[in-house]
Amino acid sequence: MSENDAAARNATSNAVGDDDSNVVPPGMIRNHLGLIENLIMTEIDWEKRWRKGKDAAWQMGTVHPMLQKYYDSMVRGRNNCRVLVPLCGRTLDLQWLVEKGHTVVGVEFVEIGVVRFFAENHLEYVVEPPSPTLPGKAKIYSSCEGRLKIVNADFFALSRDVLGTFDCVWDRGALAATNPSNYSRYFRVINDVLDDSGVWMLDSFDFTNPDFHGPPFRFNAKSIEDSLGSNYDIRQLDYFPNLAEKFKKWGLGNFYEMVHILTKKRGSGDSAHPLP
Ligand SMILES: C[S@@+](CC[C@H](N)C(=O)[O-])C[C@H]1O[C@@H](n2cnc3c(N)ncnc32)[C@H](O)[C@@H]1O
Repeated sequence: MSENDAAARNATSNAVGDDDSNVVPPGMIRNHLGLIENLIMTEIDWEKRWRKGKDAAWQMGTVHPMLQKYYDSMVRGRNNCRVLVPLCGRTLDLQWLVEKGHTVVGVEFVEIGVVRFFAENHLEYVVEPPSPTLPGKAKIYSSCEGRLKIVNADFFALSRDVLGTFDCVWDRGALAATNPSNYSRYFRVINDVLDDSGVWMLDSFDFTNPDFHGPPFRFNAKSIEDSLGSNYDIRQLDYFPNLAEKFKKWGLGNFYEMVHILTKKRGSGDSAHPLP
């Protein structure tokens, strides 16, 4: 199914994608959360997950342990970095990075998540007026204190013209949540906005159940190397079993979490080495 098909199907997804229905329409799936959604997750599918309950399955109650553990490997002693948190949801990592002294930009296309983030963290914010450089209906929510912005937009529609460039990318539940058909679009944005001396810290998952339909989608050292090895030097920092109860409920018999550090190879500009 192409993404255009998925978009077309979205127009009717409220009618046919009723969660209580026993009928799963062609091109859709009843996922591990019991929701009927497109095989290719769209903005409407994500918004349904946001509306489903108080806490989405991915939301952590703490700052991510891997961010805390490998923070030094990401910032490398640099102060006041610009840090990008793609597909940020309402993660507590955003404010933690601000409190470490950095300027942080998150990107999240479901507005409920953005508004909840600011409310729950008791942060005052302004919504910046629309500007011609912003794509479509994108908006920027900025903390009044000035060091945190969340761009309420489709990540794939963005570029360095909107986001600027970054010293660090903290990627948890972002590439892992991206439809495989969109990997090349994802890599293109990261490649565009990551400074030549920047560091991309990637938290991802590996599991072997072939029946599980993500997100999260699975990676392993080889798939990361195959996709990104021509443009990035890749170092694995961690690989550990993390079969939490919720993953068992999803039908998974194993689950490993990985942390990688990616840095751009010299001369790996877009045109020199196009990403796959
Ligand atoms: C698995 S959640 C992870 C959220 C966050 N990184 C965390 O660790 O809590 C993925 C998030 O990305 C958002 N999202 C998915 N695709 C997106 C896109 N193309 N552009 C912007 N946000 C997107 C979803 O709405 C969801 O909030």
